[in-house]
Parts: sequence; C-alpha cells; structure tokens
Amino acid sequence: MTQGAQPSPARRSVLGAAGAAAVLGAATVLPAGTAHADEARGGENRGGGGHGRGYRSLPVPTVIAHRGASGYRPEHTLGSYRHALDLGAHVIEQDLVPTRDGHLVCRHENDITGTTDVADHPDFASRKTTKSVDGTSLTGWFTEDFTLAELKTLRAKERIPGTRQENTLYDGRWTIPTFEEVLRWAEEEGRRRGREIWLHVETKHPTYFRGLGLGLEERLARLLRRYGRHRAHSPVFLQSFEPSSIQRLAKLVDSPRVVLLSGAGSRPWDFVQAGDPRTVADLVTPAGLRWIASYAQGIGPTLDLVIPKDASGRLGTPTALVRDAHAEGLILHPYTHRNENAFLPADFRRGTDPNAYGDSFGALKRYLETGIDGIFSDNTDTALLAAADFTARD
Ligand code: G3P
Ligand code: CA
Repeated sequence: MTQGAQPSPARRSVLGAAGAAAVLGAATVLPAGTAHADEARGGENRGGGGHGRGYRSLPVPTVIAHRGASGYRPEHTLGSYRHALDLGAHVIEQDLVPTRDGHLVCRHENDITGTTDVADHPDFASRKTTKSVDGTSLTGWFTEDFTLAELKTLRAKERIPGTRQENTLYDGRWTIPTFEEVLRWAEEEGRRRGREIWLHVETKHPTYFRGLGLGLEERLARLLRRYGRHRAHSPVFLQSFEPSSIQRLAKLVDSPRVVLLSGAGSRPWDFVQAGDPRTVADLVTPAGLRWIASYAQGIGPTLDLVIPKDASGRLGTPTALVRDAHAEGLILHPYTHRNENAFLPADFRRGTDPNAYGDSFGALKRYLETGIDGIFSDNTDTALLAAADFTARD
C-alpha cells in the first residue's frame, strides 16, 4: 500500500449515490466550532442554500468541474457550468475577480485578453495597459478597469484554442457571468433537478484587489448570505491560494473553506506582502496542516504535492500529504486533471500529439488510489467514470 492510501472516514462511508443516501445521515460530521455562528451574526438570507447535510455528504471521490466543463466549452460561462452539471459533476467551480464598480465576475484571469473578444472592441482599445499582478507584469485588458455594464458587452471565447479547437465552436455564444447570476442559476437548476447544486468558489488575487479598494471577501460574503450559502452545511466551498483570504472569510461566513497550495517552493502572495517567510513546503508539514485546520476544512494542493514527478515527468511515489492532512481532519481537493497529453504525467501520454488524449484513466487511478477526497477536472465525464471505477473497487 502506498503512503497515504488509508481510506478517509468519509471514503469508508460513501458508497456511491445510493449507498450514500442510506448511510450518510449518520456519517455527516460538521467541523467543530463553526455551528450557529451565522445565526448570531444574522444577515440577509433567501434560503436558497437548501437543507443539505454538508460537505461530508458529497460522494467521494468528489468530481469538481474545473471552471465548468472547460474541456468542452469556453471556461467560466453558463454554458460551461450547465454542461458540467449535465455530465454529472458533483461540484462546479468559479474563480472570482471584481469589476471597477465592485461586482464579482467569473474569470480565471483578471486579464481578459485571452478569454473574451475585448481586443475586437475599438471603443476599449485605450484600456489596454501593462500592470503588475502578484509580482507578474501583464499587458492586456483587466476586469477592474471595466464596469459590469461594459464587461457585459463582451463575449467569452476559448482560452486555449490551439489545444481545444473544438471548443472554439462556442466562441461568442456566452457573456461573462457574474457570481450572482451563477447563484441564481444554481437555485433554478437545484429546483429543476431536485437537488443541491454545489459550487467551489475561489477568490483570485485577493491582496492585489484589496489594495485597489476592491476587497473580495466582504462582497462574496454578502452574496453568500443573500443566497443562503453562508452556513457550515451550505452547498459551497470557498477557496484561495492566499491563507489570509480564507481567514478573512472564516470571520464572515461559516461556509466550508479550502486553502489552495501551489508548488512546494512557492510562497502565497499575501505571505510575500506581509513578509511571512513560510513557503508551501512549510504549510504541508504536520504543523503547517494543523495551522490550516484551525480555520479551514480542507486543502487544494497541486497534484504534484500528492504524487511528485521524477526528472522525466513520470509519476513517482506518493507523499505523506493525504495521510497527514486527514490526520488533521482536512479533506483534499487537488488540482487539475485534464485528458490531453500535454497535461498528463509522462508515463500516461499516448503518441506524440500534445493535444491528443492520453491514458487519462490510468493517471486518475494513480491519483485516486492515494485517498484524496476529490479532484478538480476539466473533463467531468472522464473523472466521474474513474471515480465510479474506484469506488466499485474500494
Ligand atoms: O482552484 C483550484 C484550481 O482551479 C487552482 O488552480 O489556477 O486553475 O485556479 P487555478
Ligand atoms: Ca480555481
């Protein structure tokens, strides 16, 4: 057995959809110290968050549609989210950035050059600019320089057309969704499908945007309250690469929270700004994980922190991260699975075309065997089949 391969308590109790319905009432365990704080704080609530049993009731491994069904549709569009739901995704991901007038919109980058037709709008030509975002110099058009009304005149397009030419079929079909539109859409879909629609919501560049007077967390918390997703059992995860954003959210809402972890040598941008010398390598130690568990319910590590690759890009031996995180009561939602050779470990590539699909099931099997609780995937259907194979064998 590989390190960290012990099934988590959640895995032991989750037997697929039918089995889950039978056993999870008893298996649902909410994190200590979070219950009812929302009641004390009060606030607006449309009750759309439903009456679920919390994240421990989700199927494990949980398939999280990364930016929607981004393997098949331009990412972060209602078309991408809807397709992910149609394919059966357990959870749909949104990345959030703000507009100039303070609305939260769904984009992975605040630089919208690659994901919209903004370059085709002569009226916005003068908005093209160069700026430093989290220490990286970028030239393009940025959400924070547009009002929501202006952004809504743009159309979304495929971010990596060279890799996913088929997705360009849908270029221009959808606008940039606001997070509030997604919340409304999730309510409607929940009613239509008779189940909770789970979301996994990331604050992007929170320190950078706070510096511009566009703090993300308070805006996000207001929307979560308005749509009843601010409770410990609400069908939503909140995630960020910046621990201070998650700590800030923990003071505002009780929704489950996940700290994202990039490469071992990297430093969260809020640490850089605050002079905190810790790197991700420090955060994945037992002490670092204990610190995270004091304000979050999970971690979202890069897959390389779960199974490192060797010098040739092949999968090596799993680390102790799954075991150590579970020991602290943390769930793991690593990122990101994609079917194309270019994104797979070298030993699971097939042929020489980087855009062709490789042995994605083989790679998923290796990752799922580590005992992770879920996975972000661009290819919801592939990940679901792999998860079904895995739970059938479990
Ligand atoms: O949020 C999980 C995963 O999406 C993190 O990577 O860069 O795709 O937001 P990124
Ligand atoms: Ca993300």
